[in-house]
Amino acid sequence: MSEWPLDQYDTNGFAVIEDFFTEEETNELRESGLELCKNAPENHRQTFSTKDAASHLKDDYFLSSANKIHYFYEDGALDGDGNLLVDKRVAINKIGHALHVLHSTFKKYTFDERVKNVAKKLGFKKPSIPQSMFIYKNPKIGGEVKPHQDATFLHTVPISITGFWIPTEDATLENGCLWFIKGSHKHGLDRRVVRNTNPNSNELLVFDNPPPKYSQDLFTPTPVKKGSLVIIHGLVVHQSESNRSNKSRLAYTFHVMETENVKYSPDNWLQLPEGEDFPKLF
Ligand code: FE2
Repeated sequence: MSEWPLDQYDTNGFAVIEDFFTEEETNELRESGLELCKNAPENHRQTFSTKDAASHLKDDYFLSSANKIHYFYEDGALDGDGNLLVDKRVAINKIGHALHVLHSTFKKYTFDERVKNVAKKLGFKKPSIPQSMFIYKNPKIGGEVKPHQDATFLHTVPISITGFWIPTEDATLENGCLWFIKGSHKHGLDRRVVRNTNPNSNELLVFDNPPPKYSQDLFTPTPVKKGSLVIIHGLVVHQSESNRSNKSRLAYTFHVMETENVKYSPDNWLQLPEGEDFPKLF
């Protein structure tokens, strides 16, 4: 594992630790992601896109996924009835959001000592893991992810959400690596998305503000090798382009949050059923 980049993290709002997992371990994560995709259920196909994260949701399949393994498809991969328009192997956008609880391989790597050590160095006292995802970003169809802050989606008071992002294939300029606005974690939270409580609206989620306009000149591309760990501050603005290449960009990701003197916002989209708690990292 390369030198601990805490200074970079504080300055930029993100940091890369290369060779975080070995090649063999990274391949195990990758194979687990591919296996899930292969065994995706035939029913209940639903798309996922950050373009209109609120309006595309037709039912609570997304909202009820906090303690399940649910499958979300690329925009353009399904017809209006949920039938596949493209090859099943490239149709899925992501799978989530309880892989770290329900899947033995993802659980093993999420609760790995190396992950715990990073969380300790970041200053977490009693961290929990609210969600995990396997993201496919498949060749030609893997969609862009618009500029956002993760705390927009996973809000706590005070802000404590931190992304752990592990590509299981090299993330490059061509296949849709992450891009960051360095230092943007210092400007505060731009907006939130919450569950919609308006009974007269059929949108399940609502944003409290329109998306801010960021100049593309501000973004720095961050290609990383497979098996790296990218640590993402909950307030740093980041994005990724669509995958226009012939190679996938598979990645496993989860979020860590503090629970000591921190409140998980009750109107966040991601909620467990009454009586259940997000698992503690340590
Ligand atoms: Fe993000």
